Amino acid sequence: MFIFYILFIYFGIIVILNFKYPLLKWDWSKADLQNISLPKNFMWGSATAAHQVEGNCKNNNWSNWEKSKDNKGNPRIKNYQKSGDACNHWDLYNEDFNRLNELGLDSYRFSLEWSKIEPQEGVFDQKIIKHYSEVINSLINKNIIPVITLHHFTHPIWFDEIGAFEKKENIFYFKRFCEKMFNEYSNEVKMWCTINEPGVFAVMGYFAGIFPPGKNNPDLTAQVIINLLDAHVDVYHSLKNHRNGSNCKIGIVKNINQFDPWRRWNLLDWLVCSINNHIFNSIFIDFFKKGKFNIYIPGFIIRKHSNLNAADSLDFFGLNYYSHSYMKFKPSFKQFFENKFPINEIKTDMEYTIYAEGFYRAIKTVSILNKPIFITENGIADKKDDRRTIYIERYLFALQKAIKDGFDIRGYFYWSLMDNFEWAEGYDMCFGLYEVNFKTQKRILRKGAERYKEIIINSKYIKH
Ligand code: GCO
Repeated sequence: MFIFYILFIYFGIIVILNFKYPLLKWDWSKADLQNISLPKNFMWGSATAAHQVEGNCKNNNWSNWEKSKDNKGNPRIKNYQKSGDACNHWDLYNEDFNRLNELGLDSYRFSLEWSKIEPQEGVFDQKIIKHYSEVINSLINKNIIPVITLHHFTHPIWFDEIGAFEKKENIFYFKRFCEKMFNEYSNEVKMWCTINEPGVFAVMGYFAGIFPPGKNNPDLTAQVIINLLDAHVDVYHSLKNHRNGSNCKIGIVKNINQFDPWRRWNLLDWLVCSINNHIFNSIFIDFFKKGKFNIYIPGFIIRKHSNLNAADSLDFFGLNYYSHSYMKFKPSFKQFFENKFPINEIKTDMEYTIYAEGFYRAIKTVSILNKPIFITENGIADKKDDRRTIYIERYLFALQKAIKDGFDIRGYFYWSLMDNFEWAEGYDMCFGLYEVNFKTQKRILRKGAERYKEIIINSKYIKH
């Protein structure tokens, strides 16, 4: 009898969970993917990050990491690759910006390489500052709106050596850099992203050890997340106090990782799903909604944090969306879950599949903040270029639906303009609208990217 009672409760909970969190799936055979059109004033862009495209980044946490090996003597980056000259976007930016025009884009998100601008603590390189001024002017001359990211995974070695974002007191240096950049460029640049994907930076660098500094420390991971979020809040308020503050939009960029249980009847799969959702997504949303959160990190770390100025620290929310995975519980202390990816879904070259419904869900998730949303990154790694068109169609269809359903989405930045250095994956992942030949630095527009161009034209000039 008792066992019957337990089973009744167990399956009761499962039914409620399935009902409350259904797996969203659309019938793509019925979706009209040929007539996608977004509002006329919608902002169309593409995104890059300095270390991934500029080349010659020799003085940051990633350049050190690319040279180092793990304790088994294996390289940190696939097949010993290094970012090296990357796309030499440092010299070729002007012609790369012609490509933005060619695609009909009206905005470009890029990051400033802090390690080039402030190579030593307190020493700012005027030549480099001038270079970025020229970059900004080149964009403006081509009618492209510049969007700056202040921290996109990289920072100077000197900042790393003093403990980077592990220490609260180091926020001072980041804030000083941001203030200086805002003072330099905010007459021309009206949209600013403070920090790119704080969760990925912290979890990959301090928990999974796949990004620098390669640590596996749950407590430190929590501390880095807290410090990054506080850094955003401090920087936001400080830039807002600048004379240009009120006519600039300042926000954070955060990815949403979509998780679903692998076995929808298994409570343990639901549990690991909710732990991952908590670490990757909820704590960030809670922070900006309520100004506080409690972090529970496996290894039983519990941290409480609050920042009264957080709730009022976003002019927009920058949403990055790529990945959806299924969580399967594993009876092991070391790693008690496994990421699973179904074989009946279209795979990207990364381990995750195409799941545009998840993009819609992510928009819904972040909409509770009641802030304008910009899709600051979304795109596919597809070396063969045989899935890019379907990816673009499905994700822009989801975006169109989200806008029709009333979500306040103002712009979309495709990741990425061209193939580039994909962090621990090196150059193996080709996210570019343009294919890059890294020997000759030639760029060729991919066939699959043409759909992006067509949808932009359709939105701007034809259908309404
Ligand atoms: C990130 C970064 C980008 C990546 C992109 C593709 O999400 O890791 O913002 O630098 O290159 O997301 O994985």
